[in-house]
Amino acid sequence: MTVRIAPSLLNSDLARLKDEVERVLAGGADMIHVDVMDGHFVPNLTFGAPLVKALRSFTGVPLDCHLMVEHPEAYIEPFAEAGATGLTIHPEATAHLERHLTEIRRHGMKAGAAVNPATPLSAVEEVVEELDLLLVMSVNPGFGGQPFWDPAIGKVRRARALLDARKSRAMLEVDGGVARETIGQLAAAGADTFVAGVAIFGAPDPTAEVRELRRLAQAGAAGGKKARK
Ligand code: DX5
Ligand code: ZN
Repeated sequence: MTVRIAPSLLNSDLARLKDEVERVLAGGADMIHVDVMDGHFVPNLTFGAPLVKALRSFTGVPLDCHLMVEHPEAYIEPFAEAGATGLTIHPEATAHLERHLTEIRRHGMKAGAAVNPATPLSAVEEVVEELDLLLVMSVNPGFGGQPFWDPAIGKVRRARALLDARKSRAMLEVDGGVARETIGQLAAAGADTFVAGVAIFGAPDPTAEVRELRRLAQAGAAGGKKARK
């Protein structure tokens, strides 16, 4: 299994954004996770397309943009123009998930759907074929550094079964409270893409932390594969 580590910039030192990105890329980060919050869908306000453009001006790394916003359709074109690689939207935020996923792909980006802890996987079941990424939230979105929601492990296992049953090659991402203590179990349950904010940027050495999280995820994935046999 390919493990992808996606550091979230939410709790990085924004006064030194470029250095922060370079530190995690030096550790082999596979993508940069950009948390876009509108102060409506979630009670916090963060980044928009101009930040994506700024990141794109100095790196070619995939920019994994997580839209925690109402009216996600309004962001598709500006984010595509800014250089986003993928957009992940929430079914809780729109009545037209399928239309927007199709539109994201039409703009040349990877299309993702994210489910909050209380949202059942059935919210995305009908659009599995339109997904390049399925994101299982392991906290209620809005802030970094929140405690990990344990039932996410079982939900990841069910999400893996759903993707496998539909022969989907979508990435299975998990976001919220991912750290040394949780990443192995999540990988064993079938997640392959791991967002981590405070665990990486709050570590004494973020570069080394990316490598350590990857090592633990790979070990967890290998154990999980054995257990499933
Ligand atoms: C939460 C965001 C996350 C957040 C994760 O609303 O979607 O991406 O940055 O932060 P940690 O890893 O600190 O829980
Ligand atoms: Zn996120």
